[in-house]
Amino acid sequence: MNSAASGLVDIHCHLLPGIDDGPADMQDALVLARAAVDAGIDTVAATPHLRADFPDVHPEELADRCRVLRAAMAQHEIPLRVVSGAETSLVWALQCDRQQLALATYAQHAESILIETPNDVTGIQELLYVLRAQGLRVILAHPERSSGFHASPDHLEALCCQGVVPQVDAGSLVHRPDSSVRRLAERVVSSGHPAVIASDAHRGQSWRPVTILAQAASAAATLVGPARAAWMTSEAPLAIVEGRELPDAPPSRPARRSWWKAGRGRPVRAA
Ligand SMILES: [Fe+2]
Repeated sequence: MNSAASGLVDIHCHLLPGIDDGPADMQDALVLARAAVDAGIDTVAATPHLRADFPDVHPEELADRCRVLRAAMAQHEIPLRVVSGAETSLVWALQCDRQQLALATYAQHAESILIETPNDVTGIQELLYVLRAQGLRVILAHPERSSGFHASPDHLEALCCQGVVPQVDAGSLVHRPDSSVRRLAERVVSSGHPAVIASDAHRGQSWRPVTILAQAASAAATLVGPARAAWMTSEAPLAIVEGRELPDAPPSRPARRSWWKAGRGRPVRAA
């Protein structure tokens, strides 16, 4: 895989057609793919839901489904790099065998896995440790949407300190400025811990559009400066899909704030 991406890299996108709540068919998937390219995205991880209520998603089929999609994109001259992945429920990840778990990782490198954040985060440190102890880097999908973390943001910070990487949804940084979701999303991005931003797109336009990632990149640049925002939306996500260590993150500009003070408008220490 060419690691010289210069555009946005989207590690959470429901791009595969017909198997979860993403695009209904290949035509809709191609619309989403085209919209991604138009929004400045050059690499997407296709991450369908791996959980009990989406029975048509099978880890053994993910790579082939990506191949079929790539062939269709090539026919339609859509220059988007697609790698396999999954948005894996914690229950599924803890119940499947090791081979299935590897098939759910990014590009099936058995290195990083996207875990859907539950609302009930009781015991989540111990549960995620089961995965981390197998050598996996856990990317935690949209923790800012979890009511459990709204009640106990210290639990989220503890996970970040242990090496779990929060993946903030682009929409959480763009919509509803007075909401608790927006506040927690901004705190995660501004905290100084490694974090990434992804679209969690389900459509090209309308419901959870892929195009919102570019808006979120701009919003993040306002919060932490353009270099750190680019790290969150391009450099770190590219390393994740390629199975590499995260590159060193540039300091946040304007000054980074501590986790606890970030939501209160009072800077504590410079980056
Ligand atoms: Fe998702």
